[in-house]
Amino acid sequence: MTRLAVVGGGFMGSQIATQAALHGIEVRLQDVSAEQLEKSMTANRGHIQRRVDKGRLTPADLEAALARVRTTTDLAEAVRDAEVVIEAVVEDLDVKRQVFSELDELAPPEAVLASNSSTMVISKLAGATGRPDRCANMHFFSPVLVMELCEVVMGPQTSEATAERCLALVREMGRTPVLVRKEIDGFIVNRILHAATQEAYRLLDGGVAEFQDIDTAVEKGLNWPMGPFRLGDFTGLDVTYNARLHIYRTTGDPNYKPSPRLREKVEKGELGRKTGKGWYDYSS
Ligand SMILES: NC(=O)c1ccc[n+]([C@@H]2O[C@H](COP(=O)([O-])OP(=O)(O)OC[C@H]3O[C@@H](n4cnc5c(N)ncnc54)[C@H](O)[C@@H]3O)[C@@H](O)[C@H]2O)c1
Repeated sequence: MTRLAVVGGGFMGSQIATQAALHGIEVRLQDVSAEQLEKSMTANRGHIQRRVDKGRLTPADLEAALARVRTTTDLAEAVRDAEVVIEAVVEDLDVKRQVFSELDELAPPEAVLASNSSTMVISKLAGATGRPDRCANMHFFSPVLVMELCEVVMGPQTSEATAERCLALVREMGRTPVLVRKEIDGFIVNRILHAATQEAYRLLDGGVAEFQDIDTAVEKGLNWPMGPFRLGDFTGLDVTYNARLHIYRTTGDPNYKPSPRLREKVEKGELGRKTGKGWYDYSS
């Protein structure tokens, strides 16, 4: 089994580690904050406990899985023996480049260094290392303990062997990989999601239909589990807004300019489920 290290023990990193551990992989999980590691792993215990409650996992399997995740604040200790390192630290280019440079020093020379970033393609990080051929994006979806997919994305210098290594790890973790051969902003899923969301907002802004009807059309006509507005409430309208703004600023494409109706929601603090109101009302 792969010797895995995950760097960044927040929401995504800790779930990536836990998902791997549920499939028998020994993982070292590192974060700069011991408190964060403790908080994340307590939350993950709660998530998996629900599987035990439903009879889908034995209490012994739960304990064995959690014992496979060894947490530390010491980066050198975390990555010393790793075959693959998945970075899931805060979405900040300077921080990530610093982490990649340290990983290059501390991880074995043959180890693959992958980033879970949603917006930073690997060529922005691989240059901080002396092994750009062994770097790739491994983009998991939130929440990792539920969502099946991982996009493995090759940068211009990523080798075929590195891509294969990442694909194999995703399968080993009980997840489904897809390979993106050319790095591109948004990879596959977010590009398609943004295109559909953009069209939904265009229809709304143009007065063509109300948001409830657009959601119903997408849910019943395309069989998507959630329409774009319901999904926005679920992920947080600030996340949708910032993602659109990021693409608009980086591409200059006016199609991605965030909708004024969306901006209004964000300014009012109506961010979706987490604030009790977004497009829909969750107060009851
Ligand atoms: N949240 C999502 O829905 C989602 C989905 C896919 C990918 N991602 C990506 O995952 C990454 C992490 O996102 P998250 O939502 O888990 O964020 P988070 O804020 O929950 O976790 C980030 C963690 O990084 C730690 N950290 C900061 N600097 C560090 C360093 N130098 N070394 C080690 N740890 C450090 C923080 O203490 C924190 O625990 C981001 O790159 C993001 O783009 C997030």
